[in-house]
Amino acid sequence: MEIDIAIEQTTEPRPRPTEENLGFGRYFSDHMFVMEHSQVMGWHAPRVVPYQSLRLDPGASVLHYGQALFEGMKAFRGDDGRVRLFRPEMNWKRLQTGAQRLCMKAPHLDVFLQGVLRLVRADADWIPSKPGTALYLRPTLIGSEPFLGVRPSEAYIFYIIASPVGGYYGDSVEPVKIWVEREYSRAARGGIGAVKAGGNYASSLLAATEAKKRGFAQVLWLDSCQKKYVEEVGTMNVFFRIGDTVVTPPLGGTILPGVMRDSIIQLLEARHIRLEQRPITIDEVTEAHDKGDLREIFGTGTAASVSPVGVLGLSEDRLLVVNEGRPGPIATELYKYVTDLQHGRIPDEMGWMMEVPGI
Ligand code: COI
Repeated sequence: MEIDIAIEQTTEPRPRPTEENLGFGRYFSDHMFVMEHSQVMGWHAPRVVPYQSLRLDPGASVLHYGQALFEGMKAFRGDDGRVRLFRPEMNWKRLQTGAQRLCMKAPHLDVFLQGVLRLVRADADWIPSKPGTALYLRPTLIGSEPFLGVRPSEAYIFYIIASPVGGYYGDSVEPVKIWVEREYSRAARGGIGAVKAGGNYASSLLAATEAKKRGFAQVLWLDSCQKKYVEEVGTMNVFFRIGDTVVTPPLGGTILPGVMRDSIIQLLEARHIRLEQRPITIDEVTEAHDKGDLREIFGTGTAASVSPVGVLGLSEDRLLVVNEGRPGPIATELYKYVTDLQHGRIPDEMGWMMEVPGI
């Protein structure tokens, strides 16, 4: 269904960063998409407007009880000049699931997609083209009703902002150093670990900050109950290559169903690489390392795509070095395949790319 989206062009374009050193999430484009939901009007007034502050009552439920969900997706400029999104309907589905879990109202697929497309069109000249860069899109849903009783908000704002980005961990595919976190947990069974709620990221900050002080880029999360089973790495899903088998923890309520996770699983299957989705303990990982069988570890996510892990810190004095600290062949091949696909360099055999028309 075609949605009527009003467009107000900016009269004060923002300064453009150079593509050389974008980093991640430091710059915002000229426009944003926004619309509101009320009980009486439902979702209404979808519009693309100049990037601006939101008007939010200090009593808004998001500010007190954390009804906040977000998505992360990217628009890529292909070598052929065309602009493509990667599996955007998966982001919408996850937003829906998250909205159900947090008792929020979520926009329909049509308006979500058309909002994304219209914003990308409005800010097409913000999409960088250097390898490894993209326009990162951040659809966000918040409860906006001013009310201090603890119950689901009766008003919502859905907005999308855009940020030209380079690599999440810098502009190269260098392996990262990861600390095995044994004190803090990311998510508990029955909690909200499987949805992209802002609160999950707030609760991860202390562990990440302490890991950084120790010289690690991020943490490896273990299950909250026994501190035994591996769950995620930083803000990414995690894969281990042990011998010739790739193992990734199964989704079970505490792990975020990553769009890249799903894509990598399909790509491994298409390559007939043995893949097991099963619980994996940190002890199994350590034993595989000690036997010389731990050949690769990599994280997958929208921001970092495929990110190899070079060192796993088990404790202050026990570091596991993976593949001599270099990116492994499977992570390297998958990173290249996904990047080539996203930039339109190879045929879209999986049918994952959505071209943004009119650019
Ligand atoms: C992703 O890689 O998909 C993420 O969610 C990372 C983001 C929180 C920066």
